Amino acid sequence: MAQQARPKQGLGPGFWPVTLLLAVITAVCDYYVVITPITNFLPEAATPADQTDELFKFLTFFGVIVFVFTIGYLVYFAIAWRKKKSDSEDALGIQIHGNFQLELWWTILPTILVIAIGWISIKDWAGIFYAQGGQLAVEAIGYQFAWEFRYPGLTDPVQNELHLPLGVPTTIHISSRDVIHGFWTPEVRLKQDAVPGLVTTIHITPTRVGTYRIICSEYCGARHGYMVGKLIIEPKEQFTAFLDHEKYVQAHAPKGPGGLPPGVNLANGNASAGQALFAQKCSACHSLGAFTQRIVGPGLGKIFADPDHPKLVDGAAATPEDAAGIINSGFTGDLGTMPNAKTNGLSNDDIANLVVYLEGVSKGQ
Ligand code: CUA
Repeated sequence: MAQQARPKQGLGPGFWPVTLLLAVITAVCDYYVVITPITNFLPEAATPADQTDELFKFLTFFGVIVFVFTIGYLVYFAIAWRKKKSDSEDALGIQIHGNFQLELWWTILPTILVIAIGWISIKDWAGIFYAQGGQLAVEAIGYQFAWEFRYPGLTDPVQNELHLPLGVPTTIHISSRDVIHGFWTPEVRLKQDAVPGLVTTIHITPTRVGTYRIICSEYCGARHGYMVGKLIIEPKEQFTAFLDHEKYVQAHAPKGPGGLPPGVNLANGNASAGQALFAQKCSACHSLGAFTQRIVGPGLGKIFADPDHPKLVDGAAATPEDAAGIINSGFTGDLGTMPNAKTNGLSNDDIANLVVYLEGVSKGQ
């Protein structure tokens, strides 16, 4: 059978009804994109969350149009111009080359769209990294496995709690003391690596009172999953009260480990409970080997008997009371940083159990 030329290929019989249907689908989808607040799923705690959400909506709005029409026409034309039973085995479709009008528009429109997306992105990005006039500057420092935050006027850092005053443009200097961590605040729509030896500065303005999460977003070791801090946004007066309270506490806190913390009774310590706790809370950083056998921190197998162990308190040998003090108040020094008992989620009983367990290990029990 001779090859038959098809009549001039047009848009097909159902083109306009299909176009109308796609327009309706697009309008319905985009209506929900525009009217549904993203805050239904995740609150916006600080600028730039609002800007990021606007950009997300902008992208989704046009993404819906492109997606629905592209897929819709693809399916429609595949059906409208499918091979017919009456076509010969080797029938060819109509060969089309060039359509100036179409090519012009499918170049111009996406170009405008991409430039707009780029412009909004650069504007938001510059706001995060280069906005000026921060009225408050704090430092966020990651370490295995917690965060510490430094505030102006406080001598010591605060573990795991970043307090910020509502409505005050704030500069956050992010860094790390050991490995790469990630400063991720979903409610601020920010995820910034905390890199040792590098200070990354971001700018945010808290817009909503509440307690949010600061999650470590880079795998940084065995207890990475526990590295979650709190972002506490509070009214200005409450923030000032927090600073005053911390100032008072720090001024009156004993320097160094400070011996046995009040409320810890070593006589009630239970070694087997301590062993279970050690495996759960400590073993990611501490081995039970010699003091010099480090994982993240030193080995603790012989802390009360090891000649390599530096004196916990100047001039005196390590005592269980000092060990309890260090577990309670945390540690910062040449050996690194250890979160305090509150950050590690350890009660007074837990501290006693751990010390009694380590005493037993030191004695080889
Ligand atoms: Cu720090 Cu993961």
